[in-house]
Amino acid sequence: MKRICTMLILGMAFVLTFCTSSQKLANKVPKVTYMANIEPIISTSCSPCHIPPKGNKEPYNTYAAVKSDVDEIIRRVKLNPTDKGFMPMKHPKLSDSTVNVFVQWKADGLLEK
Ligand code: HEC
Repeated sequence: MKRICTMLILGMAFVLTFCTSSQKLANKVPKVTYMANIEPIISTSCSPCHIPPKGNKEPYNTYAAVKSDVDEIIRRVKLNPTDKGFMPMKHPKLSDSTVNVFVQWKADGLLEK
């Protein structure tokens, strides 16, 4: 009985240590947000076409608009430049790490800030 208790306590200690350390790790990686990460990409790569008043395409100058179109945005930036619908139109393909910022934004819950 004593041995089972010791093993249980050791096991719990292990689980607790593991949980707290992995939580610390998760906290270290900042979540992707619209304000910090997405807006700068869009204002650089999707302007002027998607930024009113100059651009007259689907406006992506607000959090709500980008959020509601996120799936289509991800689909289009993942296409090859020769594919129909590729974005950013008439520009080089975004780097994999930039495309991943959109994917990670969605995974992190489409935070505004
Ligand atoms: C040179 C102008 C130009 C740039 C730059 C550009 N787009 Fe577009 N975009 C267009 C045009 C034109 C259309 C409409 C034709 C079409 O749907 O393919 C469009 C349509 C879209 C659509 C479909 C909207 C809908 O629901 O009807 C998405 C999504 C999109 N663009 C995303 C982007 C993203 C993200 C970027 C930046 C990484 C970007 N575009 C950069 C011109 C541009």
